[in-house]
Amino acid sequence: MPSRLTPRSAERSPTSAAPAASASSLTSDFSSRLVAWQRKHGRHDLPWQNTRDAYRIWLSEIMLQQTQVSTVIPYYAKFLARFPDVAALAAAPVDDVMALWAGLGYYTRARNLHRCAQVVVQQYGGAFPASVDELAELPGIGRSTAAAIASFAFGARATILDGNVKRVLARVFGVEGFPGEKKVENAMWTLAESLLPSNASDDEVSAYTQGLMDLGATLCVRGKPDCLRCPFAADCVANVTGRQRELPTARPKKVVPTRRTWMLVLRDGNAVMLEKRPPSGIWGGLWSLPEAADEAALATRAREFGGGAGVSSLAPLAPLTHVFTHFKLDIEPRLAELERGVGALAALGDADTAWVALSDLDSFGVPAPVRKLLDGLQGSLI
Ligand code: ADE
Repeated sequence: MPSRLTPRSAERSPTSAAPAASASSLTSDFSSRLVAWQRKHGRHDLPWQNTRDAYRIWLSEIMLQQTQVSTVIPYYAKFLARFPDVAALAAAPVDDVMALWAGLGYYTRARNLHRCAQVVVQQYGGAFPASVDELAELPGIGRSTAAAIASFAFGARATILDGNVKRVLARVFGVEGFPGEKKVENAMWTLAESLLPSNASDDEVSAYTQGLMDLGATLCVRGKPDCLRCPFAADCVANVTGRQRELPTARPKKVVPTRRTWMLVLRDGNAVMLEKRPPSGIWGGLWSLPEAADEAALATRAREFGGGAGVSSLAPLAPLTHVFTHFKLDIEPRLAELERGVGALAALGDADTAWVALSDLDSFGVPAPVRKLLDGLQGSLI
């Protein structure tokens, strides 16, 4: 199906029943209506609001990139307590940052966060730059995140365009085509820029950016939008034509490949052997269970790890599946015990392996599904 990139007004829709503003009057009103709505009905007390501190705003925006507000809140508090400013974060070992990030997912964000802090300290003397272009050059900051930081911290007139905003624009202006497709995305950037308030104060700019986020997160949600409360209900193409489910256009279907891995839970009493993953790739730099491509190879690895201590045969644990963006990972965990426990004393740990007490996992950055598996194991210990 060809993409239609031109936003259309509800007025031109053949099925439009309600009177609707023309696209051009909606475009010129959009920001003032959104700001008024945000001030009355938007969110005002999130932990990263009511500040112009670029460090705090940046930290929140990175955490919120792929993670919802309720999940981010405790991590945000933990990070600020441990790293109160960009210099503290830059000076920390990257492993400490990874450990504190564990459970939030998308770990490239944590590595980039640390690198970005170092660049800000080294190149900008610890003060984040105020321009969108300079912000967008920093590790982990794309165009939309740069605009969010610049508008919240510095009152810059710059538009965000994250997944929520794409949904709002697709519906209100009837933009057809999958927004992940470059052509559609470019058209949305142009549209979003045309909607920015002009001659706005810093506070208005913040309220506008927050309004886009709030509308997408609280009313114009994916499943069941609350159109009755929406300030654009009368003009929204999707609402007026009953196409809320069809807009934005869904991603064209593709089959997600499945990979399979065998994971070794090598146990000595209440300690398990963890292995540090390579710095890039999935779970890069985190501590995880040793893996192999099949059961025989895993048994070999278990014997090698056991060294002189001897290792029991592998016993299956419940398999689990973890879904990544581009593939599904089927995990086959196998339990093995050291036969003559030498435990944490075993001088096996090198820089990339460690015996870790199950009660001490918090000090290591462990991927969430592996942590879940190990927590289950801890429950079963006598
Ligand atoms: N999602 C991305 N940035 C956000 C913010 N500042 N507040 C709430 N949700 C967000």
